[in-house]
Amino acid sequence: MVLITGASTGLGLALVRELVRSEKYHVIATARRSSLPRFEKIGIFDDENLWIRPMNVLKKSDRDRIIKEANEKLGGIDVLVNNAGYCLRGVVEQVNETERLKQIDTNFRAPMALVRSVLPNMRKKRSGHIINISSVSGMMAMPTMSIYSASKFALEGATEALWYEVRPWKIKVSLIQPGFINSDSFKNVELTRESRKSIQDKNNPYYYHYNSMAPFIAKMMRFSPSTPEKIAEKIHKVIICDNPPLRVPVTIDALIFGLIRKLLPRKIYHMLMYYSLPKVYRWGEDEHYYMDAEYALKEDQKLLEGNKSNPKLLEAGPSENKKHEWNRADAI
Ligand SMILES: NC(=O)c1ccc[n+]([C@@H]2O[C@H](COP(=O)([O-])OP(=O)(O)OC[C@H]3O[C@@H](n4cnc5c(N)ncnc54)[C@H](OP(=O)(O)O)[C@@H]3O)[C@@H](O)[C@H]2O)c1
Repeated sequence: MVLITGASTGLGLALVRELVRSEKYHVIATARRSSLPRFEKIGIFDDENLWIRPMNVLKKSDRDRIIKEANEKLGGIDVLVNNAGYCLRGVVEQVNETERLKQIDTNFRAPMALVRSVLPNMRKKRSGHIINISSVSGMMAMPTMSIYSASKFALEGATEALWYEVRPWKIKVSLIQPGFINSDSFKNVELTRESRKSIQDKNNPYYYHYNSMAPFIAKMMRFSPSTPEKIAEKIHKVIICDNPPLRVPVTIDALIFGLIRKLLPRKIYHMLMYYSLPKVYRWGEDEHYYMDAEYALKEDQKLLEGNKSNPKLLEAGPSENKKHEWNRADAI
């Protein structure tokens, strides 16, 4: 009996397909009520070995109902896959309290609540497997994804503690660490209210942070060789494994980042990461300087065009052009 959260798309859906195909499991695929029609659309229907159930992981009543049904009808959950989650985009300064709490609740508190609900039965049976889908962001933080990283770091910490705690009952505990996944999940990234504004506002001090990180991450995901299906196969192997490792990097970049983090002294690691950030040389640039510079460049080009037809200005040379630049920039 395998319970999967957030199963109507991406990695969750790929795992449902993988496990159903193997015909070895009873799968409970859960998704928010509004996402349930997706299953029907792609030809996946509720049957004896595949239950499709509504569950918003943030709702205690939803969580309790499913666990109760599984306990009563099937003797409890054997494998819990905490997959539901989303990525909140926003620098530390631009996340409000509601956004912060919802991210932490979805990616950390709700999965841990589900863990607490399935453990009594697993302890009784002296078996079971908790699989928490973490992220590379659970081992290294990325700018503009502060609270997402915080939620996954928290998940990693609590899951590591759990690994020790439930070992006496032979309950297995795994953290799956994907890096960039080649999927549409990038479209599900949520921007904070402030970051939505900043991304379009050249005067915002974080304008360049967002506008360099977002396309960079989108590109990394597009070119990633790791699809949800390939990762689902790896998770299936983890489920089958008698003695799985606590942390399982499941994409090539997760492996590389893990190695870099382990091998390099912290100071060098952080400097290396900092200078590898896309267009980091522009971050924190004085916005007026930047705007002035861009404006001046355009004006220069216009002037050059104009000068070609105005020999007097050409004679005046660069100092005259500089005067134009300065005045125009001053007027912004
Ligand atoms: N994509 C990546 O590159 C990447 C990298 C590292 C780690 N991960 C992790 O992998 C997991 C799966 O992500 P994915 O790539 O498959 O993304 P995805 O395609 O966006 O799927 C995320 C799923 O979580 C569900 N979800 C979000 N909030 C929920 C809630 N309150 N209750 C129930 N379900 C909820 C979504 O449901 P709806 O369809 O109803 O919105 C969706 O089905 C996440 O934990 C994510 O953090 C992803």
